[in-house]
Amino acid sequence: MYRLVYISTPKQDISRVEVASILRAGRKNNVKNGITGLLIQDRRRFLQYLEGEQTDVEQTFARISNDRRHSAIIPLKSGYIGRRQFPKWEMASKYVDAETDLLPVVRELVRDCDRDVASELMSFAEARDRAA
Ligand SMILES: Cc1cc2nc3c(=O)[nH]c(=O)nc-3n(C[C@H](O)[C@H](O)[C@H](O)COP(=O)(O)O)c2cc1C
Repeated sequence: MYRLVYISTPKQDISRVEVASILRAGRKNNVKNGITGLLIQDRRRFLQYLEGEQTDVEQTFARISNDRRHSAIIPLKSGYIGRRQFPKWEMASKYVDAETDLLPVVRELVRDCDRDVASELMSFAEARDRAA
């Protein structure tokens, strides 16, 4: 199992409707491609975790990287993990507003994950909370 985590900057004024439509299209593809994961968004950033077969993750990420609805796409982490961490989620999504700390939200989302993956995602959340 292969995973990739990145952050990006949403296009200015991206609407909730637009994000919902991204997720609808994304989930349909993800089911087909065996991709699961998380998309977390606040006003300034997307944080996405993708997992699946390496080629599927890389092809999905290549498509996502070309998407003009976001920019400044920075991969944070990629490589093999022991098992699928989010078997039930073809792309769970969560919006947090600027005043809300991300860490408690992420802690809840990663409850059933292996410790290394959980702490990696929580450390990204902590970095965001510190910077906010
Ligand atoms: C923040 C963000 C996250 C996305 N996540 C996914 C995803 O998980 N899976 C996916 O297939 N497309 C995702 N997309 C959409 C892709 O960029 C692309 O529009 C889509 O895969 C094209 O699908 P289509 O060829 O079926 O139209 C995402 C786009 C953005 C901006």
